[in-house]
Amino acid sequence: MTTPDPERASAARSFYSRWAPGYDYLATHAPGVRCLRTALVDALDPARGDTVVDVGCGTGATLPYLRERVGREGRVVGVDFAPGAVARARARVERAGWTNVTVCRGDATRLPLDGADAVAASFLMGMLPDPAATVEGWLDALGPTRIALLDLARSHRRPGRSLNPLFRVVVRASAPPGTAEHHGESPARVLDRRVAAAHRTVLKRCTGTTHATRAGGFAYLSAGRR
Ligand SMILES: C[S@@+](CC[C@H](N)C(=O)[O-])C[C@H]1O[C@@H](n2cnc3c(N)ncnc32)[C@H](O)[C@@H]1O
Repeated sequence: MTTPDPERASAARSFYSRWAPGYDYLATHAPGVRCLRTALVDALDPARGDTVVDVGCGTGATLPYLRERVGREGRVVGVDFAPGAVARARARVERAGWTNVTVCRGDATRLPLDGADAVAASFLMGMLPDPAATVEGWLDALGPTRIALLDLARSHRRPGRSLNPLFRVVVRASAPPGTAEHHGESPARVLDRRVAAAHRTVLKRCTGTTHATRAGGFAYLSAGRR
């Protein structure tokens, strides 16, 4: 298991707080991102009335999709460790007037998840020092619960994989501290490794699993039931 590095974590928190406004625009309006969020919630398949946790919720771009599925009688809890992202997500909730959606500050690697019916995480796994251990921890802490992960990594599919060099440049340019220059690996390689480890854990540990790639093979979606 990789030990979390407090300095890297603190730098990543500052990074996401600083970039929250720009990130929020991309997370909400980038081409194809709405379809990906819909696919994540479809794969998670929460029931009306469920309590769903969105780990690493960022500026809250997935919250509306989750809330729509659990209905007024359900509950959605967003958790993120970056104060700037949490503030933005809370503003989104306040604007919408949702009383059953809350956003808290918390660390994905140390989350009390008991009581959750379903757990979703989008574009988070590449940020975690040891995503397999984190996902294992979530699954150990949970009762009968659904989990779904959505992440971006390099494509193994044609024709998407011909765009991998461009993807690598984008990842390098946008990598928060913690993915860049990690043990001498390129940020794209770190991302690939972490995403693969997390999704493998879901597929290994869960039943009723589904796995799919989208967006030319750059988006990885895995789900299952504990
Ligand atoms: C790429 S953003 C994705 C945000 C959101 N899930 C989305 O789909 O737009 C990654 C988010 O994960 C958060 N994050 C990274 N590591 C975390 C950790 N250990 N605990 C909680 N949040 C974390 C960052 O602060 C950031 O907001």
